[in-house]
Amino acid sequence: DASDIEKGTYPHYMLKEIDEQPAVMRKIIQNYQDENGELEIDSDIVTAMNDADRIYIIAAGTSYHAGLVGKQFIERMAQIPVEVHISSEFGYNMPLLSKKPLFIFISQSGETADSRQVLVQVKEMGHKSLTITNVPGSTLSREADHTMLLYAGPEIAVASTKAYTAQLAVLAILAEVTAKSRAMEVPFNLVQELGIVANAMEVLRDSKEDFEMIAHEYLSTTRNCFFIGRGIDFYVGLEGALKLKEISYIQAEGFAGGELKHGTIALIEEGTPVIALATQKFVNLSIRGNVKEVVARGANPCIISMDGLNMEDDRFVIPEVHELLTPLISVVPVQLISYYAALHRDCDVDKPRNLAKSVTVE
Ligand code: G6P
Repeated sequence: DASDIEKGTYPHYMLKEIDEQPAVMRKIIQNYQDENGELEIDSDIVTAMNDADRIYIIAAGTSYHAGLVGKQFIERMAQIPVEVHISSEFGYNMPLLSKKPLFIFISQSGETADSRQVLVQVKEMGHKSLTITNVPGSTLSREADHTMLLYAGPEIAVASTKAYTAQLAVLAILAEVTAKSRAMEVPFNLVQELGIVANAMEVLRDSKEDFEMIAHEYLSTTRNCFFIGRGIDFYVGLEGALKLKEISYIQAEGFAGGELKHGTIALIEEGTPVIALATQKFVNLSIRGNVKEVVARGANPCIISMDGLNMEDDRFVIPEVHELLTPLISVVPVQLISYYAALHRDCDVDKPRNLAKSVTVE
């Protein structure tokens, strides 16, 4: 409950929760480590993953965006096919299911009604389920077969920040532990990599002035803003756009870099801000090509790249982390830019109009 959680010296819960992210990473590592320092999850969950021929991730809002990244983790590490669905659509627009599906519900609150409806439905069909949530004992946790907790601490601001990065970390752990149980080679030592992620988050936490300046320069008067990226950067762009619109009311959209020219580029005018994420080596040149396309139409580009892939005109360079884990880091600048954009526009950062922290109606 908001009244029990102090903001301390912070002006807003959102800023406090953004700053808590490195500590949350460390807490997650601790909670999912066995006595030998190896990552460990409930063996029934590993069995459920291995029994599944396909995974269906069901979520809403920011949790849905975490699911899109989670699909990459699970498919690339554990090699189980994954579909990601918006909960409000899934119930009445159900895809043809595989023979042995496992349903993963991602929900910060564990109370989202649209997600719960899907859970009730798939349970009736006899399917297995896992809920990834921040709230022990929440409805989705109680009603699913299994639960993995986020250990992010209470999230009060309506705009989700630390729960998103916690969801990514827990999904990565789920993917890695499953992969190891299948004797598959994993791309890294995840405990070590999440430690690197936590340190990188601290660097960003200490770079707030840069993000405040970016918000001021690009977003103080604009009526719209685009986020572009390729590969997993695209999914972070979707989350960036959601963050920005929910708290600053700037119309924002996230696009796959290559898709812009199929329509959206028509919206680019003189000075339209385009925030481009460039953290993936294999598409580094092509996303920069997309930036050139929008700049030629007058866009005001803000390239956020990763150390090692950076080029001359980049506006901010995030510290290097493993290429699969970049969403954990690249989301922090967009969280902070959104925060400062909302602040400059005198918006109610923690309680944006028309929104609820947890949506318990259909
Ligand atoms: C609401 C919140 C969002 C959140 C979504 C899903 O719309 O405002 O921040 O992402 O619900 O919530 P959940 O608790 O299921 O993750």
